[in-house]
Amino acid sequence: MAGEDLAAPLSDAALDQLFRQARSFNGWLDKDVSEDQVHAIWALMKFGPTSANQLPGRFVWCKSAEAKARLAKHASEKNQPKITTAPVCVIVGMDSEFHEQLPWLFPHTDARSWFAGSEELRRKNAFRNSSLQGAYLIMAARALGLDCGPMSGFNNDAVDAEFFADQPNVKSNFICSIGYGDRASIFGRSPRPEFDVFNRLL
Ligand SMILES: Cc1cc2nc3c(=O)[nH]c(=O)nc-3n(C[C@H](O)[C@H](O)[C@H](O)COP(=O)(O)O)c2cc1C
Repeated sequence: MAGEDLAAPLSDAALDQLFRQARSFNGWLDKDVSEDQVHAIWALMKFGPTSANQLPGRFVWCKSAEAKARLAKHASEKNQPKITTAPVCVIVGMDSEFHEQLPWLFPHTDARSWFAGSEELRRKNAFRNSSLQGAYLIMAARALGLDCGPMSGFNNDAVDAEFFADQPNVKSNFICSIGYGDRASIFGRSPRPEFDVFNRLL
């Protein structure tokens, strides 16, 4: 590749927006997130890599007051208002039958057969790759000028019964509120250690 084709690092402003200034929000400004914005998040996050292009994440975007109430009633008391007052709260689900889609999602080879014989292997892969997709979702939303509030404090079995009763192969992983964060709703940033604390460069 010629030198001029190499991607340049993003600007400091972009890095601030994606990482350094981005926070996990508990409260939201009274500003809507449109259906177009939800689609725009998917249009970016879908390009994040998953093993064998599994794309095991299944996403339920709770935007109506009714859908948010159905979700919030299965969350911890402290998390309930973080769902109901958010413009959107998305359930990041995972499909343990993702391998049935591989003939068209990964057409180069018979990847379905790698997973057909082991539900345990499929569950591991669905959890790993749907978690990655959830992270891509957060970064896509931030890239589009939105803020996120991820949460795992809810009853997974109850959410699965509420939203995935007709799809027993789909289970909830975590949920994530999305909107325009209210900076008054958050504490100071928790520690983020320097490289040497949790890294080894060999
Ligand atoms: C998977 C996941 C689950 C989380 N669960 C909750 C939760 O149930 N309730 C909550 O208030 N915050 C929850 N958080 C928010 C974290 O506490 C927060 O992201 C972390 O402290 C970093 O905060 P910062 O992004 O503002 O630096 C969760 C975050 C993630 C990524």
